[in-house]
Amino acid sequence: MMDGTDRHCRYFHRLMSRRTLLYTEMITAEAIINGNRDYLLGFDTAEHPVALQLGGSDPAKLAGASLAGEDFGYNEINLNVGCPSDRVQSGAFGACLMKEPELVADCVATMIDAVKTPVTVKCRIGVDDQDPEESLFGFVERVAQAGCKVFIVHARKAWLEGLSPKENRSVPPLDYGVVRRLKLARPDLTIILNGGVETLRQSMMHLQDFDGVMLGRAAYGAPYLLASVDQEIFGDGAEQVSRDEVVRAMSVYIKQQFDLGVRPHSVTRHMLGLYHGAPGARAWRRFISENAPGARSDILDRALSIVPVKTAAA
Ligand SMILES: Cc1cc2nc3c(=O)[nH]c(=O)nc-3n(C[C@H](O)[C@H](O)[C@H](O)COP(=O)(O)O)c2cc1C
Repeated sequence: MMDGTDRHCRYFHRLMSRRTLLYTEMITAEAIINGNRDYLLGFDTAEHPVALQLGGSDPAKLAGASLAGEDFGYNEINLNVGCPSDRVQSGAFGACLMKEPELVADCVATMIDAVKTPVTVKCRIGVDDQDPEESLFGFVERVAQAGCKVFIVHARKAWLEGLSPKENRSVPPLDYGVVRRLKLARPDLTIILNGGVETLRQSMMHLQDFDGVMLGRAAYGAPYLLASVDQEIFGDGAEQVSRDEVVRAMSVYIKQQFDLGVRPHSVTRHMLGLYHGAPGARAWRRFISENAPGARSDILDRALSIVPVKTAAA
């Protein structure tokens, strides 16, 4: 998620679940080709497994960016065919590519040729007045022919005119049915459902129909749900980490990052929702927001004193 799942956020999320696959923000192939790769692609090995999400529609640039991602050690390279912002449309990538399956197939084939790392696609069910039954099935058919085996489907259309990116995540109605029919028609493909899933209970239900579930806003806004994923979704026996253990580990991380010149706020801003639904949630959120600008590296040690300790299971 742009402005969300940067390396600090992923480090934080990884402390709560070892098994969840984490995604970067969308990074344009152009930026990777021309920009500072260490800054754009660098991450901590503790974050694995991590998928790098690319934006673009130039096969050669996407292949170059994929190769760079592979060199940095990403576990998956994902192509964004779902983002509806104007900036993205003018660069001819993101959701508008739902109308150009041939071009996406070209991009994906070139990326697959360039790397050994799995190449996946995140898409919508269609855009504007497309009939999802045709747009989604036709798109997936063509892109699968090019070699992509994994599709993450945000189960709503994007309306490219008249809606803001934010509205495009809630106004077009969710249609899980068409994604379910896609999975039934293509059992050979890995189909991951995305859009509107808020709890692990809902995720479990969807896992009866799909190969995976991707959570965006719910995981970012109430990240402690990740602490139950390994047990509840993957059936792991490991004990669930408590919120204060997470805070203590993040405090160490912030101090390390501080020495490298990273402001504590760049890290704590992802942690506002950690106590969501637990005692101390409001006090925590207030303390972090009020103290973050210009904060010292011990901000989390001080924050811990205002929430009840050992608020483990959410
Ligand atoms: C702030 C924000 C930034 C996002 N950035 C991206 C992005 O970079 N790439 C992407 O594929 N989706 C992005 N999304 C969309 C989410 O990944 C997801 O598809 C959408 O929010 C629906 O899932 P959800 O209901 O679980 O949030 C973003 C969503 C939000 C709220």
